[in-house]
Amino acid sequence: MKFDALLSQATSVKDRKILDLMDNERASAYSVQADGLLFDYSKTNIDSASRDELLALANDVPAAREAMFSGQKVNETEGRAVLHTALRSFERKVSVDGVDVIPDVQSTLSRMGEFAENVRTGAFVAQGGAVTDVVNIGIGGSDLGPVMAATALSPFHSGPKTHFVSNVDGAHIADTLADLNPATTLIIVASKTFTTIETMTNAKTAWDWMAKDVADPGAQFAALSSNAEKTAEWGIAPERVFGFEDWVGGRYSMWGPIGLSVMLAIGAENFQRFLDGGAAMDTHFLTAQGLDNMPLMLALVGIWHNQGCGYATRAVLPYDQRLLRLPAYLQQLEMESNGKSVSMDGETLPYESGPVVWGEPGTNGQHAFYQLIHQGTRVVPCEFIVAAEGHEPNLEHQHRLLQANCLAQSEALMCGRSLDEARSKVANKFKGAELERQAAHRVFPGNRPSTTLCIPKLTPFTLGQIVALYEHRVFAEGVILGINSYDQWGVELGKELATALGPVMDGTESAEDKDASTQALVSFLTS
Ligand code: F6P
Repeated sequence: MKFDALLSQATSVKDRKILDLMDNERASAYSVQADGLLFDYSKTNIDSASRDELLALANDVPAAREAMFSGQKVNETEGRAVLHTALRSFERKVSVDGVDVIPDVQSTLSRMGEFAENVRTGAFVAQGGAVTDVVNIGIGGSDLGPVMAATALSPFHSGPKTHFVSNVDGAHIADTLADLNPATTLIIVASKTFTTIETMTNAKTAWDWMAKDVADPGAQFAALSSNAEKTAEWGIAPERVFGFEDWVGGRYSMWGPIGLSVMLAIGAENFQRFLDGGAAMDTHFLTAQGLDNMPLMLALVGIWHNQGCGYATRAVLPYDQRLLRLPAYLQQLEMESNGKSVSMDGETLPYESGPVVWGEPGTNGQHAFYQLIHQGTRVVPCEFIVAAEGHEPNLEHQHRLLQANCLAQSEALMCGRSLDEARSKVANKFKGAELERQAAHRVFPGNRPSTTLCIPKLTPFTLGQIVALYEHRVFAEGVILGINSYDQWGVELGKELATALGPVMDGTESAEDKDASTQALVSFLTS
């Protein structure tokens, strides 16, 4: 089996002390730098033998990378190219089915820029005056990227206020629209397919809300979609429709039209810097060799912990409040991409695929779930993210405290606290058997792996680098796992069953062909 050698390597060494591997060279030898970012994986159990083993597993990555960047149809189950990189890196000429894709990308980007500037300057007039609020209605990749980036880049906001509605739960749209003025609100319907039930339902609710106050709701609607037919059916004028091709996957789409809400908030120039950050990471990924390649090393650390050591989850822990939505964004990026059970050839995988990804910003997480990370029975590899500089110069002392907390956590995870140390902490309070009992609760096993990604400051450029870094990490892990990272068939069954259950829930159809549990739940919820 593909991972046998790695597994036996990891099994034999994963319990040795990470601290014993530390020497003066380790911090630089087990870290990678790329255009101002530093990725440190020295606080893991990886040594040079395990790293060689990991690098050998990545032999197929360069050819697969070339295939993806050059527009080959690497998403084989959907028969599509995978070219989100073409939305941000314009120097490389890329063709799909013989057609150069870059001119269209650039013309859509400049149309978006013009529209955004018109809205921001008030040249685009809504029916009650200049636009004060923008509501992006979308879900999954049509929501998570934009909301994550808009939150991350709040110090750069200079446009209308942005709001995001995703959940089909009427509470989401009702709460969002409650304080808005329909006459000065722009609704963006973000949906690649323009058929997603949640988005279409919320869009209709927004349309009806607007129709009560303005003569022409459609004039305050814009659409971001690949489905021009459907946007036309909705009556959204073509000048406010921003299209993209099927080679942009939903969860990889924030670089193009799906990023319009972000562009409206931060302006076209700042949005361009976000694209530049992504492009810089693309160039790095394409040119840096082996150990110097940051996305590759991030992927290999992931493979080591998941396929090698058998750790089923990983936590993403940004020490940056504005990266609040990054864990949720990465959940879709990583879990929808690499949560598969069959290989590219349709064979059942004889090993685990992608891990469960979760997290929260520090320091909040410290006061919630870090207890389990430090003392629980499971090992959770942690991925810390922290900036050298904050955005609040007058609160620099708080930023230093934030950094101190971040570094303290990775140090505590690695070093732990021995029984002797625990005893001496409480020796003045307890004696004899009670001292032993109390000390045992205060032991930290330590030797728990973590990585730290350091960025200079959270800006549009560095955010672009971070997102592209994780995209390429997911890609490299997917290649090593031998799966298709670009389809998402696993979301379909639930959608089909929800459609079938709709008439059951509103009483127009009976639940009699459902299983007994579902019937009982229907009965409880509807009677
Ligand atoms: O949930 C599956 C999915 O297809 C995601 O991959 C996608 O990001 C999301 O739904 C939204 O799709 P759309 O942009 O077509 O509305």
